[in-house]
Amino acid sequence: MIDKNSSRRAFISATVASFAWLIVGDRATAAPANLAGRPCKAKGRERKVNGVTFVCRNAKGKLVWRRKPGQAAAKIVAVRVLESSALDLGSTKVVDVPAPNGGTVGVVLTRTSAGITALRVNCTHQGFPVGRVGAVLECELHGSQFNPETGAVINGPAARPLTRYDASETNGGIYVTVTTN
Ligand code: FES
Repeated sequence: MIDKNSSRRAFISATVASFAWLIVGDRATAAPANLAGRPCKAKGRERKVNGVTFVCRNAKGKLVWRRKPGQAAAKIVAVRVLESSALDLGSTKVVDVPAPNGGTVGVVLTRTSAGITALRVNCTHQGFPVGRVGAVLECELHGSQFNPETGAVINGPAARPLTRYDASETNGGIYVTVTTN
């Protein structure tokens, strides 16, 4: 026999849980109360986890961790993308770099006498990927050309330089740092 009282209790608790999720669900996941094993105990204290800064805040009488405003774009990922020996002086290679928010970013690497230049592969006109043609990076779609050492526009219609990322070389590898934007 079915216990009517217990089914009613189950129904009410499921309904209350659904409303609670609707009201606070997103905020709750965005602001863990116990960040990487550290409870939020002192208001104003900051803690960095995976490149994201959280601040201990008072929310309705309770101390909780909240993402610091403006920090979403500060998450940093430095990735070994290529062996140093795979990029000769003056040459260019395109690599896919994992993006902090998922997916990948296509990056054009060029070795110059001054070091490695890392530029986003997407043309700043309408986003088509650029490729090395002779001494320049060229977009086949409408013909924009860019300087592979700086990303500067040589010929339009693109009006802005290619997005530049930090690149470094250590322990025989090339590293690229991609920030979210
Ligand atoms: S998309 Fe590159 S020139 Fe138009």
